[in-house]
Amino acid sequence: MATARGQFSSRLGFVLAAAGSAIGLGNLVAFPVMASKNGGGVFLFVYLLFVALICFPVLLAEIAMGRNTQRNPVGAFSALSGGHRGWRLAGKLAILTPFMIAVFYTIVTVWILIYLMRSLSGGLDTLADPATFEQVVGSPTLFIPFVFLQIILFTILLGGVKGGIERMARVLMPTLAVMLIGLILFVMTLENAGLGIRYYLVPDFSQLDGGVINGALNQAFFSLSLGMGILITYGSYFSRKDRIVESGKMVAIADTSIAFLAGLLILPAIFAFDPGTDPDDLSTSSVGLIFTYLPQIFLSMQDVVGYFGASVAASVFFALVLFAAMTSMVSILEIPISYMIDEWDFSRRKAVLTQAGLVSLFSVGAALSFGMSSFFTDFIPYGGGSRSFFDLIADTFSEVILPLVGFLVCTFCAWRWRQAGFTGELSVGHESFRGSWTDRYINFSLRTFVPVVLLFVFINSVAEKYFAVNLLAVFGL
Ligand code: TRP
Repeated sequence: MATARGQFSSRLGFVLAAAGSAIGLGNLVAFPVMASKNGGGVFLFVYLLFVALICFPVLLAEIAMGRNTQRNPVGAFSALSGGHRGWRLAGKLAILTPFMIAVFYTIVTVWILIYLMRSLSGGLDTLADPATFEQVVGSPTLFIPFVFLQIILFTILLGGVKGGIERMARVLMPTLAVMLIGLILFVMTLENAGLGIRYYLVPDFSQLDGGVINGALNQAFFSLSLGMGILITYGSYFSRKDRIVESGKMVAIADTSIAFLAGLLILPAIFAFDPGTDPDDLSTSSVGLIFTYLPQIFLSMQDVVGYFGASVAASVFFALVLFAAMTSMVSILEIPISYMIDEWDFSRRKAVLTQAGLVSLFSVGAALSFGMSSFFTDFIPYGGGSRSFFDLIADTFSEVILPLVGFLVCTFCAWRWRQAGFTGELSVGHESFRGSWTDRYINFSLRTFVPVVLLFVFINSVAEKYFAVNLLAVFGL
């Protein structure tokens, strides 16, 4: 790696790129579903606490590792540990994870694309029918938008249009935030929305259990793109003149705000459209929730703006969500690609095509997991029931592996790289950081409770996901 590495031209460049990769379906789809099924307010409370106390130090650790070594995740672990094989393996896990997440992420993105096309062609009313989702995910026609999406994604990754995407993101991501706020204001005017606002904003601590704790931590890791080498890679392009701590804070705040807004939109909508909703019934919510309530929100706008107006609003919104999903995917798939280029000496073309082939292959299995093929639908039994191929990948890579990689990153920074190296890197371009309260907090937390919590959530996720055992039950949670 003798050539100089590209750098973000400004601090804003880094924040926008990292936020663009962090903000995606995790915020807009997964977060509201997790919040509604895990007690609403209590989930939000634990989530915010985890982002501030646990995830933020890990986020800084990842950026610091990247900037210090100027390498990809495997290279970074390797350089800082003097080529230690075990730590290189941790780096490899951090590369495999975004790849596997991309597999099921692709399928959810295809669903969004289908919803976009349907609302564009005047089918908004049928989308609002809960039966439509089942039919969309189980129908082979899904493969047409699937192929289309793969071609677009990998063409972007092959060619140099990524700069264009980043420029578009500067306009479209703020548009998404403004549109979310507009929609929230609209939903607030609906009858019964207040019940949802209360459910979302007022924590009921009697609902706190192992599922809330695991769910909140895993969701926070997924949403911030932690534990998958992404911020290590982004950190390697981070200028030595800028302050990691402040940029990291902005990324975390941007990502968390969008998730918060998505929850504030969907939860009140559930109560407004289904006035009899009993919060206990929500504990079995799944992704289908978003795909039913979003169209309902738009459909109910027809009283104000007419069916055509409502369809336009729905189309614009789905287009923005699709865009957010694609920016996440493009930026995150870059990690395994740059690894192949750096470490295996692949040409860019060869790396992109290898990746395209592998992701598409696995994604086909994930697409067939919703009834089209019984082999993939009833792929493997665990956790007390039969699970699909999609479930297996989603459970393993978005729930079990993330806290494990997080644990490895922080024990690595705290015990192998040590405070001197780590604090030294965080204070480059930021001399006043050394000895500050943030410095003390981060060093203390990474050496003490952060790894403990992460290891604990990892073990508990394994027990819960694969064996349907809740270890926290001993504490009455
Ligand atoms: N952080 C992104 C979001 O919130 C999603 C994401 C995390 C992702 N890891 C990924 C997307 C790996 C593709 C590949 O939506």
